[in-house]
Amino acid sequence: MNITFIGFGKVAFNLVDIIQSRDIVFLTSKENRSESTIDLINKSNVQVCDTFMQAIESADIVISVNTPSKAIEVAKSYSKYCNGIFLDLNNISPKTALEINDLVDNFVDGAIIGKIDSKNPTIYLSGSKAEELLFLNDYLDIKVISDNVGDASRLKLLRSTYTKSLSALLIESYQLAQSLNLEDEFFNTLSLTEGDDFKEKSLSRINNTLKSSKRKAEELEEILDYFGNGDLEMVEAALKKLKQF
Ligand SMILES: NC(=O)c1ccc[n+]([C@@H]2O[C@H](COP(=O)([O-])OP(=O)(O)OC[C@H]3O[C@@H](n4cnc5c(N)ncnc54)[C@H](OP(=O)(O)O)[C@@H]3O)[C@@H](O)[C@H]2O)c1
Repeated sequence: MNITFIGFGKVAFNLVDIIQSRDIVFLTSKENRSESTIDLINKSNVQVCDTFMQAIESADIVISVNTPSKAIEVAKSYSKYCNGIFLDLNNISPKTALEINDLVDNFVDGAIIGKIDSKNPTIYLSGSKAEELLFLNDYLDIKVISDNVGDASRLKLLRSTYTKSLSALLIESYQLAQSLNLEDEFFNTLSLTEGDDFKEKSLSRINNTLKSSKRKAEELEEILDYFGNGDLEMVEAALKKLKQF
């Protein structure tokens, strides 16, 4: 089986590393790619074609994993060469997933939950062809949620509604504790109910959120745009908070 990546960054690199099978050949191309991507390709066990078109034509599965803002453009440019399943793993909105579905045959909507280099990477899939990817369960945690393209992206957005809003609240509470010089005590009291690793997890969440506050704020805007009809007050407050950093 041939699996072709359009985009060879952290996700593709990790997937090639995780999915090790004699029956699977990974393909990609260095066509118009940056030095850092070419470096990752050289470090990976992936076959390189001269063009993406060549890599896609012989693929049973094409995985588009580049950047959310390019997902539609990539689908438009390359889906015509795809004879197999076209899986999008970009962090795209349900609207974008539906747009791609109109452009692509055999489309599967995919959502990576958490980081791809976490201990047990989990991928949610939806679409009528999603079940054909269940064999990947030998290597990853794959969950097919429905036949409807858009459900995987919707679920990811729904999850972010909770996690991103909670991060904003955590930052606010932590900063208050800092201003009162009660940081350790703040974490200690919360650990009593939230678990021993609460401090470690919270500090990591706070750092990640502050480091990429612009991207997280954009995700909250996307949530409001997609689900909001004026009643997502907590999400609106979290957005206001994240825009301060
Ligand atoms: N990393 C994660 O754990 C994670 C988790 C959930 C979702 N995601 C999603 O997965 C996608 C990829 O993430 P990543 O972490 O792998 O990103 P990354 O490390 O930044 O890599 C992105 C790759 O896409 C390539 N690319 C960009 N535009 C392209 C195009 N038009 N044609 C072909 N290749 C193109 C880039 O090549 P150049 O360097 O040449 O531009 C690079 O190889 C994103 O949509 C992200 O939202 C990632």
